[in-house]
Amino acid sequence: MGCQRGPDRGRTSTSRIRGEAAIAVRSKKTFATETSQDYGDDPIAVRDTDKYATEYIRDFVEKWDELIDWEQRARSEGRFFIDVLKARDKLSVLDVATGTGFHSIQLAKAGFDVTSADGSAEMLARAFENAKDHDVMLRTVHADWRWLNRDVMGKYDAIICLGNSFTHIFEEGDRRRALAEFYAALKHDGLLIIDQRNYDTILDDGFSSKHKYYYCGDQVSAEPVHVDEGLARFEYTFPDGSKHNLNMFPLRKDYVRGLMREAGFQQIHSYGDFMEEGEEPNPDFFVHVAEKEYAE
Ligand SMILES: C[S@@+](CC[C@H](N)C(=O)[O-])C[C@H]1O[C@@H](n2cnc3c(N)ncnc32)[C@H](O)[C@@H]1O
Repeated sequence: MGCQRGPDRGRTSTSRIRGEAAIAVRSKKTFATETSQDYGDDPIAVRDTDKYATEYIRDFVEKWDELIDWEQRARSEGRFFIDVLKARDKLSVLDVATGTGFHSIQLAKAGFDVTSADGSAEMLARAFENAKDHDVMLRTVHADWRWLNRDVMGKYDAIICLGNSFTHIFEEGDRRRALAEFYAALKHDGLLIIDQRNYDTILDDGFSSKHKYYYCGDQVSAEPVHVDEGLARFEYTFPDGSKHNLNMFPLRKDYVRGLMREAGFQQIHSYGDFMEEGEEPNPDFFVHVAEKEYAE
C-alpha cells in the first residue's frame, strides 16, 4: 500500500486504480527527474499547466516542509477543515493536491477515510514517508486532475485541493476540465474545497503577507518576483541560501467562484483566512467550499 521507492515510485498502489501500463507511460511526464529547476532563458514566458510536474524537484520537495512548518500551520488552521467536513457528515475524502501530506495525514488522524492523490510522484513519495512518521498508512494515487477519473475510481463525499494548488493551471480549458473531473468524482451531495492566495490584492495593490497561514516557516521567505494578469512567479528562499521558484496563474476570487458555479456546484461559500467573509478585510488566502446539492 502507498508510494514505493525505486523506479516504480509514483505508480499507485491502491486497488482503486486501473490501467497500470497507462500510468507507467504517463509517469514519464510527471517524474521530476531533474536536479535543478529549469525555466529556460525567459522564466516569465513559462506559463504552462504541465510545468508543475518538473517544478517540484527533489531538493525543493525535501525543503517544502521547512517552508510550510507543519506545527505552525496546524495551529493557524486549527480544526477548520475537520469542522467543515464533519458539519456536513463527510467521511470519504479525496485529497487531490496531497503535496507532502499535511492535510491527508491530519484528516486520516481525525478519522476520515482519506485517499491521497497528486500529479507529482516526488510529492507523493514524501507524503508517504511523512505519514509513516505519524503512524498513518496513506492510500496514494498518482493522478493529474485533468484526467483524474481515469486513475481514481469510486465516488467521494469530499474533495480537497488545498495549499494554493489550483493556481498551477494556466489554461482556462484545463481549469474547467479539472473541475468537471472533481465534480464527477463526488457523490451527488459531495463537497469540493479549493483554496487560493488572495491574488486580487496582489494584482491590484501589490504583495504583502501576514506570514501567518500556509507558508509558516519563519526561516523561509516566499515572495513574488513577477506579477501580471497571467503570471505570479514566486521565489522561495531557504536558510541554506538555496532558491526555488513556482510559476502560477493569479486566480481572481470571483473568477474561481464563477468557474465552480459553471462546473455545476450549487452553493459556494468563501472564507477569508479561515473566517467568514468580511471578518478579515484583507485576507492572505481564500477558501471556497462548494456543494453539489441544490439548496433547499
Ligand atoms: C503548492 S503544492 C500544495 C501541496 C499541499 N496541498 C499543501 O498544502 O502543502 C501543490 C500541489 O499540487 C500538485 N499539482 C499541481 N498541479 C496538478 C495537476 N494538474 N494534477 C495533479 N496535481 C497537481 C503539485 O504536484 C503539488 O503537490
